[in-house]
Amino acid sequence: MHFTSVSDVGDVNALVEAALALKKAPLAFQHLGKNKTLGLIFLNPSLRTRLSTQKAAQNLGMQVMTVNADKDSWALEFQDGVVMDGVTVEHIRDAAPVLGAYCDILGVRCFPKLASKEEDYSEHIMRQFMRFAGKPYLSLESATLHPLQSLADAVTLAEHRPAHRPRVVLSWAPHIKPLPQAVANSFAEWMNRLEVELVITHPEGYELDPRFAGRARIEHDQQKALEGADFVYVKNWSSYADYGKILCRDSAWMLTENHLKHSNRARVMHCLPVRRNVELSDEVLDGPRGLVQAQAENRVFAAQAVLKQMLENDR
Ligand code: CP
Repeated sequence: MHFTSVSDVGDVNALVEAALALKKAPLAFQHLGKNKTLGLIFLNPSLRTRLSTQKAAQNLGMQVMTVNADKDSWALEFQDGVVMDGVTVEHIRDAAPVLGAYCDILGVRCFPKLASKEEDYSEHIMRQFMRFAGKPYLSLESATLHPLQSLADAVTLAEHRPAHRPRVVLSWAPHIKPLPQAVANSFAEWMNRLEVELVITHPEGYELDPRFAGRARIEHDQQKALEGADFVYVKNWSSYADYGKILCRDSAWMLTENHLKHSNRARVMHCLPVRRNVELSDEVLDGPRGLVQAQAENRVFAAQAVLKQMLENDR
């Protein structure tokens, strides 16, 4: 079993319930991971994904080995047929089988370069790890998706779900740097599999790949989109159409208390790290609406539910 997107999940609600059950009894399946090793390879920085996945694996009795690629190990080459007389030292064709030999499950974080849509959206780096390691693959965020984050978000929504079908708004926010579309793509893809009304609001030019936006209603008027919202997920992403570019720097898109006055007492989410008073105001983050710490805590049980399934499938 691989875990790279919601497409790898049969029953999303059952996986959410499994995570919630693990939250109540995190050490109930310590036997599952005995004598199993999880390898975590980071080609990009991380706080939450690294520590929550380590904690999840420890809760299941697994051993964990973590590598910061390019810092702890050799600079990797991913192109075939190149003469390696530059900065890269080891080819993925040679490194990945070594990792596969040492690990029972391999987790990799590999961000997009945001230079070529075709290259990033082909998941070129993730696919080479999968192909040459030959072990179950756990995405720790790829060029286009962040499924462990989205599962934690789905768990957090389930914990705070109102009695009615909730209106969930994904609201673009400003940022000083061009960021990947992965969190937004992934959140939309997972929400499309749940019983929610999904609205996405962003300035013109920030449309997500329609494969991930799915049945979401797109609303360019942020105020209109936020009316009646039960949950607002705030996130920046760079343009998909004008690939990797920043098209809007309008600070009016930053979510404040004032934006939420016509919402349905909306709870506010963000995957973290957040640029305070650029993406989201202090008052919202520190006030009673904020769910960001709950999301971060649920990262442990999301990762644990996925690892548990992977270990059970491998028996
Ligand atoms: N949300 C998230 O993935 O955080 P990190 O980048 O710190 O892992």
